[in-house]
Amino acid sequence: MSRISYVNGQYIPHSNASVHIEDRGYQFADGVYEVFAVHDGNLVGEQGHLDRLKHSLVSLQIDWPMAKRSFMVVVKEVVRRNHVKFGLVYIQITRGVARRDHPFPTNTQSAIVVTARKMPPLDKNVLNKGVKVITIPDIRWKRKDIKSISLLPNCLGKQQAREAGAFEAWQYDGEGNITEGTSSNAWIVTKDGELVTKQIGSTILNGITRLAVLESAREAGFSVSERAFSIEEAHNAKEAFITSSTSHVKAVTRIDDKIISNGHVGELTSKLLDLYVDYIEEIGGPIVTDRWN
Ligand code: PDD
Repeated sequence: MSRISYVNGQYIPHSNASVHIEDRGYQFADGVYEVFAVHDGNLVGEQGHLDRLKHSLVSLQIDWPMAKRSFMVVVKEVVRRNHVKFGLVYIQITRGVARRDHPFPTNTQSAIVVTARKMPPLDKNVLNKGVKVITIPDIRWKRKDIKSISLLPNCLGKQQAREAGAFEAWQYDGEGNITEGTSSNAWIVTKDGELVTKQIGSTILNGITRLAVLESAREAGFSVSERAFSIEEAHNAKEAFITSSTSHVKAVTRIDDKIISNGHVGELTSKLLDLYVDYIEEIGGPIVTDRWN
Protein backbone atom coordinates (compact mmCIF):
# COMPACT_ATOMS: atom_id res chain seq x y z
CA MET A 1 0.00 0.00 0.00
CA SER A 2 1.52 3.35 -1.00
CA ARG A 3 1.59 6.28 1.37
CA ILE A 4 -0.53 9.33 0.73
CA SER A 5 0.45 12.84 1.78
CA TYR A 6 -1.40 16.12 1.75
CA VAL A 7 0.30 19.05 0.03
CA ASN A 8 -1.41 22.42 -0.37
CA GLY A 9 -4.95 21.20 -0.98
CA GLN A 10 -4.24 17.82 -2.57
CA TYR A 11 -3.83 14.23 -1.43
CA ILE A 12 -0.86 12.93 -3.40
CA PRO A 13 1.13 9.65 -3.46
CA HIS A 14 3.95 10.25 -1.00
CA SER A 15 6.64 9.40 -3.54
CA ASN A 16 5.44 12.22 -5.82
CA ALA A 17 4.72 14.79 -3.11
CA SER A 18 6.84 17.92 -3.43
CA VAL A 19 6.90 21.65 -2.73
CA HIS A 20 8.17 24.59 -4.73
CA ILE A 21 11.91 25.38 -4.64
CA GLU A 22 11.13 28.90 -3.43
CA ASP A 23 9.00 27.80 -0.51
CA ARG A 24 10.30 29.90 2.38
CA GLY A 25 10.42 26.80 4.53
CA TYR A 26 13.02 25.38 2.16
CA GLN A 27 15.00 28.61 1.80
CA PHE A 28 14.73 30.21 5.25
CA ALA A 29 13.29 27.51 7.56
CA ASP A 30 10.43 30.02 7.74
CA GLY A 31 7.79 27.70 9.13
CA VAL A 32 6.52 25.64 12.03
CA TYR A 33 5.55 22.04 12.62
CA GLU A 34 3.76 19.64 14.91
CA VAL A 35 4.06 15.92 15.53
CA PHE A 36 1.01 14.13 16.91
CA ALA A 37 1.19 10.55 18.14
CA VAL A 38 -1.53 8.26 16.80
CA HIS A 39 -2.65 5.64 19.28
CA ASP A 40 -5.22 3.08 18.23
CA GLY A 41 -6.27 5.37 15.39
CA ASN A 42 -6.75 8.42 17.64
CA LEU A 43 -4.67 11.57 17.91
CA VAL A 44 -3.03 11.97 21.30
CA GLY A 45 -3.31 15.38 22.98
CA GLU A 46 -5.13 16.89 20.01
CA GLN A 47 -6.16 20.15 21.68
CA GLY A 48 -2.70 20.70 23.19
CA HIS A 49 -1.01 20.28 19.80
CA LEU A 50 -3.52 22.64 18.18
CA ASP A 51 -2.98 25.26 20.88
CA ARG A 52 0.78 25.00 20.47
CA LEU A 53 0.53 25.20 16.68
CA LYS A 54 -1.54 28.35 17.05
CA HIS A 55 1.08 29.77 19.43
CA SER A 56 3.87 29.03 16.92
CA LEU A 57 1.96 30.52 13.97
CA VAL A 58 0.91 33.67 15.85
CA SER A 59 4.45 34.18 17.18
CA LEU A 60 5.82 34.16 13.62
CA GLN A 61 2.85 35.97 12.03
CA ILE A 62 2.14 33.07 9.70
CA ASP A 63 -1.52 32.68 8.67
CA TRP A 64 -3.42 29.44 9.08
CA PRO A 65 -3.38 27.82 5.64
CA MET A 66 -7.07 26.90 5.93
CA ALA A 67 -10.02 27.04 8.30
CA LYS A 68 -9.19 25.27 11.56
CA ARG A 69 -12.10 22.86 11.23
CA SER A 70 -11.00 21.79 7.72
CA PHE A 71 -7.45 21.51 9.01
CA MET A 72 -8.36 18.77 11.51
CA VAL A 73 -10.43 17.01 8.84
CA VAL A 74 -7.32 16.90 6.62
CA VAL A 75 -5.07 15.68 9.44
CA LYS A 76 -7.47 12.84 10.29
CA GLU A 77 -7.98 12.02 6.61
CA VAL A 78 -4.21 11.60 6.14
CA VAL A 79 -4.18 9.19 9.11
CA ARG A 80 -7.14 7.29 7.62
CA ARG A 81 -5.75 7.11 4.06
CA ASN A 82 -2.45 5.74 5.36
CA HIS A 83 -4.18 3.20 7.63
CA VAL A 84 -2.15 4.41 10.59
CA LYS A 85 -3.43 2.76 13.74
CA PHE A 86 -0.23 3.39 15.69
CA GLY A 87 2.27 5.96 14.50
CA LEU A 88 2.55 9.67 13.98
CA VAL A 89 1.28 12.56 11.90
CA TYR A 90 3.64 15.34 10.87
CA ILE A 91 2.27 18.77 9.98
CA GLN A 92 4.39 21.53 8.53
CA ILE A 93 3.14 25.02 7.78
CA THR A 94 5.43 27.53 6.11
CA ARG A 95 4.99 31.16 5.09
CA GLY A 96 4.63 29.97 1.49
CA VAL A 97 6.26 30.54 -1.87
CA ALA A 98 7.84 33.88 -2.78
CA ARG A 99 10.88 35.25 -4.60
CA ARG A 100 13.82 34.91 -2.22
CA ASP A 101 13.96 38.03 -0.06
CA HIS A 102 14.39 38.18 3.71
CA PRO A 103 11.39 40.35 4.73
CA PHE A 104 7.95 38.74 4.81
CA PRO A 105 6.34 38.73 1.38
CA THR A 106 2.87 40.24 1.01
CA ASN A 107 -0.07 38.30 -0.47
CA THR A 108 1.58 34.93 0.00
CA GLN A 109 -0.55 31.90 0.82
CA SER A 110 0.94 29.88 3.67
CA ALA A 111 1.83 26.35 2.60
CA ILE A 112 0.92 23.10 4.32
CA VAL A 113 2.19 19.54 4.22
CA VAL A 114 0.72 16.67 6.23
CA THR A 115 2.31 13.21 6.31
CA ALA A 116 1.60 10.17 8.44
CA ARG A 117 3.51 7.01 9.11
CA LYS A 118 3.14 3.83 11.05
CA MET A 119 5.26 3.10 14.11
CA PRO A 120 5.29 0.14 16.47
CA PRO A 121 2.69 0.58 19.24
CA LEU A 122 3.96 1.90 22.55
CA ASP A 123 5.67 -1.01 24.29
CA LYS A 124 6.29 -0.75 28.03
CA ASN A 125 9.08 -3.34 27.83
CA VAL A 126 11.02 -1.26 25.30
CA LEU A 127 10.43 2.03 27.13
CA ASN A 128 11.40 0.39 30.40
CA LYS A 129 14.82 -0.64 29.07
CA GLY A 130 16.41 2.72 29.70
CA VAL A 131 18.66 4.75 27.42
CA LYS A 132 21.83 6.82 27.65
CA VAL A 133 21.90 10.58 27.21
CA ILE A 134 24.85 12.91 26.84
CA THR A 135 24.96 16.61 27.76
CA ILE A 136 25.85 19.28 25.21
CA PRO A 137 25.76 23.10 25.14
CA ASP A 138 22.42 24.53 24.03
CA ILE A 139 23.31 26.55 20.93
CA ARG A 140 19.74 27.20 19.76
CA TRP A 141 17.99 30.56 19.32
CA LYS A 142 16.07 32.32 22.10
CA ARG A 143 12.52 31.28 21.13
CA LYS A 144 12.49 27.58 21.86
CA ASP A 145 8.79 27.79 22.77
CA ILE A 146 8.08 28.10 19.03
CA LYS A 147 8.05 24.75 17.25
CA SER A 148 10.11 26.09 14.39
CA ILE A 149 11.28 23.87 11.52
CA SER A 150 14.72 25.43 11.97
CA LEU A 151 16.24 22.39 13.68
CA LEU A 152 19.90 22.41 12.70
CA PRO A 153 21.25 22.60 16.28
CA ASN A 154 18.85 19.82 17.26
CA CYS A 155 20.04 17.64 14.38
CA LEU A 156 23.71 18.30 15.22
CA GLY A 157 23.02 17.45 18.86
CA LYS A 158 21.16 14.25 18.05
CA GLN A 159 23.94 13.20 15.68
CA GLN A 160 26.50 13.83 18.43
CA ALA A 161 24.41 11.64 20.72
CA ARG A 162 24.26 8.84 18.14
CA GLU A 163 28.03 9.01 17.63
CA ALA A 164 28.48 8.72 21.41
CA GLY A 165 26.21 5.66 21.47
CA ALA A 166 23.46 7.65 23.21
CA PHE A 167 19.78 7.98 22.46
CA GLU A 168 19.42 11.69 23.21
CA ALA A 169 21.46 14.79 24.03
CA TRP A 170 20.38 16.99 26.93
CA GLN A 171 21.25 20.60 26.18
CA TYR A 172 22.52 22.92 28.89
CA ASP A 173 22.40 26.72 29.02
CA GLY A 174 25.09 29.27 29.99
CA GLU A 175 24.44 28.66 33.71
CA GLY A 176 24.97 24.92 33.36
CA ASN A 177 21.27 24.11 33.69
CA ILE A 178 19.63 21.46 31.52
CA THR A 179 17.02 22.92 29.20
CA GLU A 180 15.71 19.90 27.29
CA GLY A 181 16.63 17.16 24.84
CA THR A 182 17.03 17.80 21.12
CA SER A 183 13.56 16.35 20.48
CA SER A 184 12.21 15.64 23.95
CA ASN A 185 11.74 17.18 27.39
CA ALA A 186 14.15 16.25 30.20
CA TRP A 187 13.11 15.09 33.67
CA ILE A 188 14.85 13.97 36.84
CA VAL A 189 13.77 12.63 40.20
CA THR A 190 16.00 13.95 42.98
CA LYS A 191 17.32 11.84 45.87
CA ASP A 192 14.49 13.40 47.95
CA GLY A 193 11.89 12.09 45.52
CA GLU A 194 11.10 15.44 43.90
CA LEU A 195 10.05 15.16 40.26
CA VAL A 196 11.71 18.00 38.34
CA THR A 197 11.43 19.38 34.82
CA LYS A 198 12.34 22.84 33.54
CA GLN A 199 9.64 25.49 33.81
CA ILE A 200 8.12 26.74 30.56
CA GLY A 201 9.19 30.00 29.00
CA SER A 202 11.20 30.73 25.90
CA THR A 203 13.99 28.29 26.87
CA ILE A 204 12.12 25.05 26.17
CA LEU A 205 9.34 23.65 24.06
CA ASN A 206 6.27 23.05 26.17
CA GLY A 207 5.86 19.37 25.32
CA ILE A 208 2.35 18.00 25.08
CA THR A 209 3.59 14.75 26.63
CA ARG A 210 5.23 16.88 29.34
CA LEU A 211 1.86 18.46 30.13
CA ALA A 212 0.12 15.10 30.32
CA VAL A 213 2.83 13.69 32.63
CA LEU A 214 2.75 16.79 34.85
CA GLU A 215 -1.00 16.52 35.16
CA SER A 216 -1.01 12.83 36.04
CA ALA A 217 1.93 13.25 38.47
CA ARG A 218 0.07 16.02 40.32
CA GLU A 219 -3.17 14.06 40.35
CA ALA A 220 -1.29 11.08 41.81
CA GLY A 221 0.03 13.38 44.57
CA PHE A 222 3.74 13.24 43.65
CA SER A 223 6.00 16.12 44.63
CA VAL A 224 6.47 18.05 41.38
CA SER A 225 8.65 21.09 40.62
CA GLU A 226 8.89 22.97 37.36
CA ARG A 227 12.30 24.57 37.83
CA ALA A 228 15.80 24.68 36.43
CA PHE A 229 18.14 21.80 37.33
CA SER A 230 21.87 21.64 36.77
CA ILE A 231 24.00 19.06 35.00
CA GLU A 232 25.37 18.12 38.41
CA GLU A 233 21.88 17.57 39.78
CA ALA A 234 21.12 15.41 36.75
CA HIS A 235 24.28 13.36 37.28
CA ASN A 236 23.28 12.79 40.91
CA ALA A 237 19.60 12.13 40.20
CA LYS A 238 17.81 9.13 41.61
CA GLU A 239 15.92 8.65 38.35
CA ALA A 240 15.73 10.33 34.96
CA PHE A 241 13.56 10.08 31.86
CA ILE A 242 12.52 11.89 28.71
CA THR A 243 9.09 12.63 27.27
CA SER A 244 7.88 13.28 23.74
CA SER A 245 5.11 12.27 21.37
CA THR A 246 7.39 9.67 19.80
CA SER A 247 9.35 8.50 22.88
CA HIS A 248 6.38 8.71 25.30
CA VAL A 249 7.95 8.29 28.77
CA LYS A 250 11.38 6.75 28.25
CA ALA A 251 13.67 5.92 31.14
CA VAL A 252 17.22 7.30 31.18
CA THR A 253 19.72 5.07 32.96
CA ARG A 254 22.93 6.86 32.08
CA ILE A 255 23.79 10.56 31.78
CA ASP A 256 27.30 11.06 30.36
CA ASP A 257 29.42 8.62 32.40
CA LYS A 258 27.07 8.58 35.42
CA ILE A 259 24.83 5.56 35.90
CA ILE A 260 21.34 6.55 37.09
CA SER A 261 19.29 4.39 39.46
CA ASN A 262 21.84 1.57 39.25
CA GLY A 263 21.18 1.25 35.54
CA HIS A 264 17.55 0.25 36.11
CA VAL A 265 14.31 2.03 35.48
CA GLY A 266 13.29 4.09 38.47
CA GLU A 267 10.15 3.37 40.47
CA LEU A 268 8.55 6.76 39.86
CA THR A 269 9.47 6.67 36.14
CA SER A 270 7.78 3.31 35.84
CA LYS A 271 4.64 4.60 37.60
CA LEU A 272 4.54 7.67 35.35
CA LEU A 273 4.84 5.45 32.28
CA ASP A 274 1.88 3.37 33.57
CA LEU A 275 -0.15 6.56 34.10
CA TYR A 276 0.78 7.80 30.63
CA VAL A 277 -0.31 4.51 29.10
CA ASP A 278 -3.65 4.81 30.96
CA TYR A 279 -3.99 8.35 29.63
CA ILE A 280 -3.40 7.50 25.98
CA GLU A 281 -5.55 4.38 26.20
CA GLU A 282 -8.39 6.54 27.37
CA ILE A 283 -7.35 8.64 24.53
CA GLY A 284 -5.60 11.49 25.41
CA GLY A 285 -8.48 13.94 25.94
CA PRO A 286 -7.93 17.64 25.69
CA ILE A 287 -4.98 18.98 27.62
CA VAL A 288 -5.69 22.60 28.36
CA THR A 289 -2.67 24.74 27.61
CA ASP A 290 -3.64 28.13 28.86
CA ARG A 291 -0.18 28.83 30.22
CA TRP A 292 1.61 30.31 27.23
CA ASN A 293 3.71 33.16 28.45
N1 PDD B 1 9.77 16.73 19.14
N2 PDD B 1 11.40 19.46 23.08
C1 PDD B 1 11.77 19.47 21.78
C2 PDD B 1 12.93 20.30 21.37
C3 PDD B 1 11.05 18.71 20.82
O1 PDD B 1 11.40 18.76 19.54
C4 PDD B 1 9.96 17.92 21.27
C5 PDD B 1 9.14 17.09 20.31
C6 PDD B 1 9.63 17.91 22.64
C7 PDD B 1 8.47 17.13 23.18
O2 PDD B 1 7.25 17.65 22.76
P1 PDD B 1 5.93 16.73 22.63
O3 PDD B 1 5.77 16.02 23.92
O4 PDD B 1 4.86 17.69 22.34
O5 PDD B 1 6.17 15.75 21.50
C8 PDD B 1 10.36 18.71 23.51
C9 PDD B 1 9.04 16.01 18.10
C10 PDD B 1 8.52 14.70 18.55
C11 PDD B 1 9.92 15.95 16.86
O6 PDD B 1 10.60 16.94 16.60
O7 PDD B 1 9.89 14.95 16.15
